[in-house]
Amino acid sequence: MSTPDLSGRHLLLGVTGSIAAYKAASLVRLFTTAGAEVRVLMTESASEFVTPLTLGTLSGGEVLTDVFPENEEGNWTKHVTLGAWADLFVVAPATAQTVAKLAHGFCDSMLTATALSARCPLLVCPAMDREMYRHPTVRDNLERLSEIGYEVMPAERGELASGLVGQGRMPEPEAIRSRVAEQFSESSSPTQHSDPSPGEDTPLSGAAVLVTAGPTREPLDPVRVFTNRSTGTMGYAIAEAAAARGAAVTLVSGPTALDAPAEMEMVQVGTAAEMNEAVQARRDDADYVFAAAAVADYTPTDPSASKRKKEDGDLVLHLRRTPDILKMVGDHRRPDQVLVGFALETEDGLDNARRKLEDKHLDWIVLNNPTETGAGFGPATNRVTLLARDGAMEELPLMQKTELANTLLDRVIRASRSGSPA
Ligand code: CTP
Repeated sequence: MSTPDLSGRHLLLGVTGSIAAYKAASLVRLFTTAGAEVRVLMTESASEFVTPLTLGTLSGGEVLTDVFPENEEGNWTKHVTLGAWADLFVVAPATAQTVAKLAHGFCDSMLTATALSARCPLLVCPAMDREMYRHPTVRDNLERLSEIGYEVMPAERGELASGLVGQGRMPEPEAIRSRVAEQFSESSSPTQHSDPSPGEDTPLSGAAVLVTAGPTREPLDPVRVFTNRSTGTMGYAIAEAAAARGAAVTLVSGPTALDAPAEMEMVQVGTAAEMNEAVQARRDDADYVFAAAAVADYTPTDPSASKRKKEDGDLVLHLRRTPDILKMVGDHRRPDQVLVGFALETEDGLDNARRKLEDKHLDWIVLNNPTETGAGFGPATNRVTLLARDGAMEELPLMQKTELANTLLDRVIRASRSGSPA
C-alpha cells in the first residue's frame, strides 16, 4: 500500500479504553510518516492498554487526558484551541462508552470536550465485543453519530479479545489511514479551521441581510400538515454569522425547534404563503438575501376547517403550487442586491443548480446532496458546492454548518465588494 500524502494536515487522535488501543501506536506512526502533525487525546482507561509516554513519544507532543490538568492552573481552554487547530478528529478505538458520550454531548474528559469544541469533521472507529456492538443502544448511538454528521467507520468481523468471532474489531490502522486520506482528497486543500476570527476582513456593518430558514407547514386540516425534514440549522447559522459581523438581520423562519437568535428581527411563519408575504414585504430593503428555507412546493388546495374523518377506500388529495418566493425576489431584484439560493439535489446536481441560478436570477447557489453522509437537513455538518453567476465553482469540504455559514459569507461578501460575480 503506497503512503498517502497527509503533509500539512492537523490530526487529532482520540484513544479510548479498548484492547485495540495498542494499535493506536501504529496509527500515530502511520499518520506522522505520511506527513501529518498529530496530537493525541486519551481517556483514563485507554492508559490501561497503552501508555501516554508511548503515544507522546511517537507523536512528538504532549498527550492530554483531563480537561482540567493538574499543575496547569488557568490553562483550561486547550480543548477549544485543539478543536480549532484540527483538520480532522479521529477517535480510534472508540469504546461503547465513548460512543455513548459523543452521541449525547458528554463533556467529562479532554477527548469529549474537544469533540464538542471541534470545528472539523470527526471519524469514529468503534471497537468492542460482538454483543456490545450489536446492542440496540450502541446501534442507536452510532446512528446518532451519523445524524450529527460524524463519520462512523464500521467495525470489522474477526476474532475478538473475548475469543468470540464476530463484528467488533477496529479496522486495521492502514485502513483508517486510507479513510483519512480519502476524506482529505474529497476536500481540496488543507482547510482553514484555525482561523480564530471569521469575518474579520469581511464585516457587514450597515448592511441589511434577509434570511429564510426552516421548513414550511401546509395544513390539510387543523391537525395535519405537509412539511419536510428541514431543521433550520443552516439558515439560523447564516443569520447569526451575519449579525455577528454587524449586519441588520431579518430572519424569516418556518417552524423549527431552534431558539430565536438574539439581536435580529425574527419573523415566525407557518405556510409558504405566509413566508412569501413576509419576504416580499422586506425584499426591497435587503442588501443580501440568503434563501435557506425548504419551502413546500405544493399545498393542499382546499384545507378543511374541521378535522377530516377517515372514510373507506383511498384518499386522493389535490395540491396546488405555492409561490416561488426566491424567484419573485430575483424577478424584482435591485441591481445592487446579492441573492443566494440553495439547491438540494439527489441527482444531476450541477445542472439543476445552474438552471435554478439562472431561472431565479441569483448571484450564487449553494448545492448540497442530502444522501451524502454528513450533508443535508439533519446533521450539524454539510458538504456543499458553491456556484456563482459568472460560472465559478468551488467544492467546499465537509464542515460544521456554523463554519460553513462563515465561509459562505466570506465568499459572497468578498465577491460582491470586488464586483464579481454580479
Ligand atoms: N424556494 C423559494 N420558494 C419556493 C421554493 C423554493 O424561495 N416556493 C427557494 C429555496 O429557499 C431555495 C431555492 O429556492 O433557496 C430552491 O429552489 P427550488 O427550485 O424550489 O428547489 P426545490 O424545491 O428543491 O425544487 P425541485 O423540486 O424542482 O428540485
